[in-house]
Amino acid sequence: MGMKVLLVGGGGREHALAWKIAQSPLVEQLWCAPGNPGIAHHAECVPIQAEALDELTAFAVEQAIDLAVIGPEGPLALGLSDRLRERGIPVFGPSMAAAQLEGSKAFMKDLLARHAIATAAYRTFRDPAEARAYVEEQGAPIVVKTSGLAAGKGAIVCSTLEEAHEAIDRIMVAREFGSAGDEIVVEGFLKGEEASLLAFVDGERVLPLAGAQDHKAIFDGDLGPNTGGMGAYSPAPCLTPAMVERAVAEIILPTVRGMAAEGYPYRGILYAGLMIDGDDLRILEYNVRFGDPECQPLLMRMRSDIIPYLLACANGSLAGMTIDWDPRAALCVVMAAQGYPGNYPKGAAIEGLDRAAEVADTMVFHAGTRAHAGAIVTAGGRVLGVTALGLGVAAAQERAYEAVARIDWSGVQYRRDIGYRAVARERS
Ligand code: AMP
Ligand code: GLY
Repeated sequence: MGMKVLLVGGGGREHALAWKIAQSPLVEQLWCAPGNPGIAHHAECVPIQAEALDELTAFAVEQAIDLAVIGPEGPLALGLSDRLRERGIPVFGPSMAAAQLEGSKAFMKDLLARHAIATAAYRTFRDPAEARAYVEEQGAPIVVKTSGLAAGKGAIVCSTLEEAHEAIDRIMVAREFGSAGDEIVVEGFLKGEEASLLAFVDGERVLPLAGAQDHKAIFDGDLGPNTGGMGAYSPAPCLTPAMVERAVAEIILPTVRGMAAEGYPYRGILYAGLMIDGDDLRILEYNVRFGDPECQPLLMRMRSDIIPYLLACANGSLAGMTIDWDPRAALCVVMAAQGYPGNYPKGAAIEGLDRAAEVADTMVFHAGTRAHAGAIVTAGGRVLGVTALGLGVAAAQERAYEAVARIDWSGVQYRRDIGYRAVARERS
């Protein structure tokens, strides 16, 4: 008897996960709650929202789910893993306590400090006046962050003291991010190159994936405000095998051991946002889920069946496992709605999806779409993640943009330079 799997979420990351999970010969049936029109090609979509814990738990019990895979951070922070585990359902995803690694930057930074793991110097504040005094003392550049979840938009890099005061105002006085900004982290600015290293974690052991890099800023040249991510690619040239080994030994393993020792063992995928400056390696942030859009290129490169890893994380049995990667590169271009990461319109009809699907070695992952009157329309800020494989990053980039050029809607925006650093390195 094959497995019954429930995937929770409905964005681009979950489309990539659904596509990959559905390829597993171990899976008999895949449901996705709530899913999206792209996911509907690989899974049966169930109209239950990702944060409806009671309904999700009831559904999982009723269908006798063999494995629940939780995509986004929201339900993890609310404790969906714990609820499902209480009912005996194996879960890929950390407990509510372990999910604080992403849900509370104050928790994360304090944990790193307790275990002497390299990160930016920091202080946490609940009082704006104290935060202001601290930034005056530290000077610029400096980084002001909401401690709570803010959809990738709660970290404000300030190049002047004036900007730092404005950031404190926006978060703590105008409360632009609501209660996510009750507490803030103010930390030193780190220079260097950022890279994402994701790892399967089974409570004790760590199995790193291939490296990836994303582009968080909205505009070409990495300019403008941060978004959830406008594009990503794998491999990341700066994550050499030696650097991956160091990141595991110096950062990820000590974190996983620290979590276990303190009573909240980590199970699931752990996303380490690293800053590399020559020999200096530090952790900028942890996410408790696959990166979106890093997940899309990573899963296109993963040749191994994903199910055994998801199960091993759930059951504590990662020992001895390795992953088979496609040696080619993969690159994802996010097509977004005009106005994102601010306000944006919804409901524009998307043209050209069929023609884009004809480009070889390319997948158009749906992030924010909806089926309406026989058409696919926009329904989110990040709408599609067009992802292609190529012999190198430049070839993957060319192919991805070829598919992007076939897609259109009124008010589309996307970056034209995803992967530029890796492409420049490849050429030199
Ligand atoms: P975070 O939400 O903490 O990942 O921050 C989002 C982005 O802000 C990061 O990917 C970096 O580009 C930038 N950032 C955050 N913290 C720092 C820092 N201490 N130094 C430099 N850049 C940072
Ligand atoms: N792409 C960055 C993130 O998923 O947080």
